[in-house]
Amino acid sequence: MNISTELTQEVFVTELLKQMTLDEKVGQLNQVGTSIYGGKEEHYEQLIRSSSVGSFLSIKEIEKANYLQHIAVNETRLGIPLLFAEDVVHGFLTTFPIPLAESCSWNTQLIKKTAEIAAEEAASAGIHWTFAPMIDVSRNPRWGRVAESFGEDTYLTAVFGSAKVKGFQGSLTGNGTLTEDHIIACAKHFVGYSEAEAGRDYNTVDLSWYKLANVYIPPFKRLVDEGVMSIMSSFNLLNGIPATTNKKLLIDILRKKLFYSEVLISDWNALKETVVHGFCRDDKEAVKKAVACQLDIDMSSLLYGTYLKGLVESNSIKEAEIDRAVRRVLSLKWRLGLFDNPYRSSAEKYKKIVDKTKEFRRTALEISEESIVLLKNDGLLPLKSTDKVGYAGIFLDDRQSMMDTWACKGDEKQIVTLAQAVENKQNKNYFLLQNAFRDFERTQTFSEETRSWVRHLDKVVLVLGEKATESGEAKSKAILSISKEQQNFIQALSQINQNIVVVLMNGRPLVLSAIIPYCKSIVEAWHLGCEAGSAILNILEGVVNPSGKLTMTFPRHEGQLPIYYNHYKTGRPYQADKFNTSRYIDLPNDPEFSFGYGLSYTDFALMNYEVKKLKKNQWEVSIDVVNTGEIEGKEVIQLYIGAQYGTYTRPMKELKGFKKINLKPNEKRKVVFNVNRDTFCYYDENLNELFDSGDYLIMVGNSSVIDEKNTKRIEVED
Ligand code: GLC
Repeated sequence: MNISTELTQEVFVTELLKQMTLDEKVGQLNQVGTSIYGGKEEHYEQLIRSSSVGSFLSIKEIEKANYLQHIAVNETRLGIPLLFAEDVVHGFLTTFPIPLAESCSWNTQLIKKTAEIAAEEAASAGIHWTFAPMIDVSRNPRWGRVAESFGEDTYLTAVFGSAKVKGFQGSLTGNGTLTEDHIIACAKHFVGYSEAEAGRDYNTVDLSWYKLANVYIPPFKRLVDEGVMSIMSSFNLLNGIPATTNKKLLIDILRKKLFYSEVLISDWNALKETVVHGFCRDDKEAVKKAVACQLDIDMSSLLYGTYLKGLVESNSIKEAEIDRAVRRVLSLKWRLGLFDNPYRSSAEKYKKIVDKTKEFRRTALEISEESIVLLKNDGLLPLKSTDKVGYAGIFLDDRQSMMDTWACKGDEKQIVTLAQAVENKQNKNYFLLQNAFRDFERTQTFSEETRSWVRHLDKVVLVLGEKATESGEAKSKAILSISKEQQNFIQALSQINQNIVVVLMNGRPLVLSAIIPYCKSIVEAWHLGCEAGSAILNILEGVVNPSGKLTMTFPRHEGQLPIYYNHYKTGRPYQADKFNTSRYIDLPNDPEFSFGYGLSYTDFALMNYEVKKLKKNQWEVSIDVVNTGEIEGKEVIQLYIGAQYGTYTRPMKELKGFKKINLKPNEKRKVVFNVNRDTFCYYDENLNELFDSGDYLIMVGNSSVIDEKNTKRIEVED
């Protein structure tokens, strides 16, 4: 290609573009998912040698990546290196908790750190680009992909999505390239995918642009402002037009309103699906409409590779449109330093990273512990050292479920299950009753031997929940309650011993009404990855005090869905004593467990709440937090605002800040938030910023259920 890499990115890319043929340009816009060729590598090699591919998805071995890269660099006319992409969502070799679990830690630093580790591991295996973070604000637990999200709140999704991008991409070097242990991030899925009607994956999405502008788009705006280097459009229909070819969304909003100028990639085969949606008459029209929307890379539909050249030659598409997309792709490759060093890693380097797994697992343990949410505790936890404890349940030793979805090269054998953690403890008072569940499934009763065991136990830890195969993409559920056989099990068990601690292992909020009456404690442990068992046992034993807070509301029943904390007032807000208010006649309005909720083994008192006006539209909000118990613990103090009026009506409350603090017994800490005009801004349906003067409530609490005494009314001025 004989272009000096000393040139600036702009000049280098322009020079290279000048040398490229139309075929070579089209090749750069084609991303090949290896599964479309059934892993047959001869296809890959032929595609590379003919310059028909710019990037691959799912090449996960450094030797293979470097082998293919060698062909691209040495056996093509210009030697343009390939990009290798992978869904590194919650770990590459070291499997971390699913993002929904991590979000319940409210620990932004740890959420960033797990992305840094994932990037280092993936980069060492030859991966350049991850399709993460998924920043779909998720309000519907029937949708299986809530497991990949950071929950129902827009502000939190933006904060944690930002932390992930910083972790994946790191800080750029002086000449604007990523360091070799970092990878390109991809904010996905743009936009509204999580609002699939009825929670059924890939289903229709029909949302007001006002709701999109204030709930689903802001996390993308923040990540674009902070330099995320790629975005993925979503599968779904959006207000009658597929997001993949939705001009209002991809041009008017993404390119013009958010000033996004980097690569936009489709989701898998989504381009071809615009024909299935009935928006494009045929594949050719899909390609034309996608180019008009500045979709730069076609993931695995092969339509760009098939039709782009002909459409340019017939003047249906201007070559300048192709050049713009190719420039963006080449810029990604430049920023990875691939033109200087196409082999960012080697087998030796990969081996060194594998040797760091032990160190990385310490981080996995730490964030797993902080992701666990104590939902109920009528005194059974923490376990006492003298307690005789039985451990039972189908997930007690289920390695695969701890991995959940998108587990990359995570090794099931490396998963510490709860059964293994218990065995490792070698506590003579601990008894593994794995077979109890299997016997029960077969006989719907317990053997006399099991009965006598269980009767003499002080406590029973029962692990319930959903399998990894029930969570993630294309795993929508209409029924969110624990399975019938698990319900039968806990009910039968409670006839023998009342002291039941339920540990939940799941990828979404579940309906727990069928089990709550039969247990005295509930620990929400999600699918935590490689250190699941150790983290859970540390929490059960009180080695670590639980500090997680829910980032998704748990409904009492599927009939309440969608249910989320930041709902609107309506003209008839619920009143217990008035029938014609917004309510059900067969269920209460409030959820089983609220957004922001989570218990501790200690108690925290919130007092001396103050909202001090410093000057026009500047306030200092403070509250004293005291650990009034006997155990050190962490608490998450949350700041909410409640607009009393708006150009558009506003939610009852909106999270605008949080602080996670650690307090020793009797320790007191003043937690301070600064509130200013920006805190109150929002958007109209065209993403123009709006600000309304007037009355607002400022609320602080340790969940979204706020005590009246921690609510103050302020007047915000023009
Ligand atoms: C999938 C997912 C997307 C993922 C892509 C590549 O269908 O929707 O999140 O990044 O395909 O695996």
